[in-house]
Amino acid sequence: MTERGLCRRLQPYGSSIFSEISALSARHNAVNLGQGFPDFDGPEEVRNAAAAAVIDGPNQYAPLAGLPSLRHAITAWYQRWYGVAIDPDHEVTVTSGCTGAIGDAMLGVLEPGDEVLLIEPWYDSYPASVVMAGGVCRYAKPASPGYVIDRDVLEAGVTSKTRMLVVNSPHNPTGRVYRESEWDVIEAFCVEHDLVLFSDEVYETLVFDGVHRSALARPELRSRSIVASSVGKTFSLTGWKIGWTVAAPPLTEAIRGAHQFTSFCVSTPLQVGAVVALELPDSYFEEFLRGYRSRRDQLVSGLRSIGLDPIVPQGTYFTLVDLAPLGVDDDRAFCERLIRDLGVAAIPTSAFHEDRRSGPIRFAFCKQPEVLDQAIERLSRIGELLP
Ligand SMILES: Cc1ncc(COP(=O)(O)O)c(C=O)c1O
Repeated sequence: MTERGLCRRLQPYGSSIFSEISALSARHNAVNLGQGFPDFDGPEEVRNAAAAAVIDGPNQYAPLAGLPSLRHAITAWYQRWYGVAIDPDHEVTVTSGCTGAIGDAMLGVLEPGDEVLLIEPWYDSYPASVVMAGGVCRYAKPASPGYVIDRDVLEAGVTSKTRMLVVNSPHNPTGRVYRESEWDVIEAFCVEHDLVLFSDEVYETLVFDGVHRSALARPELRSRSIVASSVGKTFSLTGWKIGWTVAAPPLTEAIRGAHQFTSFCVSTPLQVGAVVALELPDSYFEEFLRGYRSRRDQLVSGLRSIGLDPIVPQGTYFTLVDLAPLGVDDDRAFCERLIRDLGVAAIPTSAFHEDRRSGPIRFAFCKQPEVLDQAIERLSRIGELLP
């Protein structure tokens, strides 16, 4: 038999940088500040609700669009936080995490050859999902270290074949929260070029400075946006993979058209748990943010104490450190040495650029304070690795 391997269209994407760094990190027993998952679990009452559902049911297939109770809880979520009214029956689809939302949206909406404009640095599943759906990636390249999105940056990547723009705020990996003026630019751009906007809002509750704006709250974007999120980050349940899309009925129909054949539906008892999560009182979110602000400040001041110059993220649970001024010109090789020689894992951001140019390295602070301390202690020898 002819030997078969990964299909050609996915070969450029190889294995994800997160899997590679996590595997290397495990092999060297490193402190893993690479992949963005907390080393603590979400609220006990949420986990108890899911456990009870596993024991007592429901344990059979959920409806394709998601349990009605979860779709109603998602609807109430957008009303509660953004004052946006959503129809739970025709505008909400429960997906396999935000990653599933991205995949289902691309598969349901794109025609072969449709172009999708991605903004560097991107989340790694975007380009692969576009390509799996038969689309073509184009890139907008805001300049570092500001990464501000303006009209010129977006116009440089658009053509007559562009069908969709993908945005992400709060942004992984830069920690930026889009300004009002950037949303103005995005809105006008999408309207003028008649684009669908895919707005990845998975870090929506992790905002330290500024305010998160949902694309759904903008009248001109309401009918052309697919907003995606999940319980992974907000409730420290990344392994549950319960996410969703919210979009106007025609876009929702497209997403569901794909979702019925990618997974049909996602874990029923965990959807029951997700309802309890979304309905938690304000005090949960205040405490959640307080905890993350403290971890952010701990990591940023720790990195400063050893002579590095991290950005202070406005949102998400990541910070970036640019080592180019210290002579590092290959972020990936440097991250491998960090793991092997110092026992700390970080993510090279070159993986999120079209030309793979060396960039800042990303540290996650969704870890216990003692783990962050241990990482800083190990990193204090970073000078030994610098040229
Ligand atoms: C920007 C962004 N989008 C989507 C995801 C995936 O979310 P989920 O775990 O819900 O699939 C992540 C996870 O790190 C992310 O950083």
